[in-house]
Amino acid sequence: MAAKSKVEVKGFEARHYDTLLNVVSLGWYARFIKKAIADLGIRPGERILDLGSGTGRNDELMAKYLQGKGQILGLDIGEEMLEQAYERAAKNPLLKFEKRRIDEPLPYKGEFDRVFICFVLHGFEHPVRKQIVENASRALKPGGVFNIIDYAEFDLEDTSWPFRIFFTKGECELASEFIQHDWKQELREFGFVRFDEKFYLGNKIRLLSAWKKANDQTSEEEQ
Ligand SMILES: C[S@@+](CC[C@H](N)C(=O)[O-])C[C@H]1O[C@@H](n2cnc3c(N)ncnc32)[C@H](O)[C@@H]1O
Repeated sequence: MAAKSKVEVKGFEARHYDTLLNVVSLGWYARFIKKAIADLGIRPGERILDLGSGTGRNDELMAKYLQGKGQILGLDIGEEMLEQAYERAAKNPLLKFEKRRIDEPLPYKGEFDRVFICFVLHGFEHPVRKQIVENASRALKPGGVFNIIDYAEFDLEDTSWPFRIFFTKGECELASEFIQHDWKQELREFGFVRFDEKFYLGNKIRLLSAWKKANDQTSEEEQ
C-alpha cells in the first residue's frame, strides 16, 4: 500500500480507536454513526459483508437490526483492531471476523444482501479502490446493496477553516483526491444501477447506497 495512505491503523490509535473517535469529535461521531447505520435500512436476516471492519463497532450496531437472524462478516488486516472485533464476536453469534485483505480479489460470489464499507475506500490509490468495488459487486446477490460511508464529493475551498485544517493535515493525501471522483459514475462501471444518498456534517460525509442490477431488471428500470 502507498505510504501516503493512513487507512491502516496501528498501535495506540488502534487499541483505543473507538474511544479516540468519540473524544476527539466531542461525542459527535458516536451520534453520527448510530444515525448513519439506522439510515441503512437493514432488514432482519440479512447477510452483510463489512470491508475494513476495524474494531467491529459498526457491525455490533448493524447486528441490532437483524433481529437474531442472518450474519455479518467483517474483514480487516489490523491485528489490534481485529482483537477488539473478536471480543465482540465472542459475545454476539451474528458477528464473525476474519483477517483478510480487501484490496485483493475476494472469494465471495453472489452471497451477500449488503456490502458495507465505512471510512476505508478513500485511503487507497484509485486502481485499488476499483478492485475493492469489484469485490463488493461480485460478493453481492443480484439486487443487493453496497453502502459506502465516506467523504462526499465537495469543494474543499468552500469549507470552514477548521474543517480545512483537519482535512488537509489530519487526513491522508488520498482523501483530497477521493472527493474529486464522481462515485455514482465509478460504481456504474461495476454493475450498480440505482443510487441513494444521505449527507451528514453539512455536505461533507455521505452514505452512498448503490444497488446491483437485479436478474429481472430491465434497462428502463435503471436510474
Ligand atoms: C479508518 S479505519 C475504519 C474502520 C471501520 N470501518 C470503522 O468505520 O470504524 C480503516 C480500517 O481499514 C483496515 N484496513 C486497511 N487496509 C486494509 C486492507 N488492505 N484490507 C483489510 N482491511 C484494511 C484497517 O486495519 C482499519 O481497521
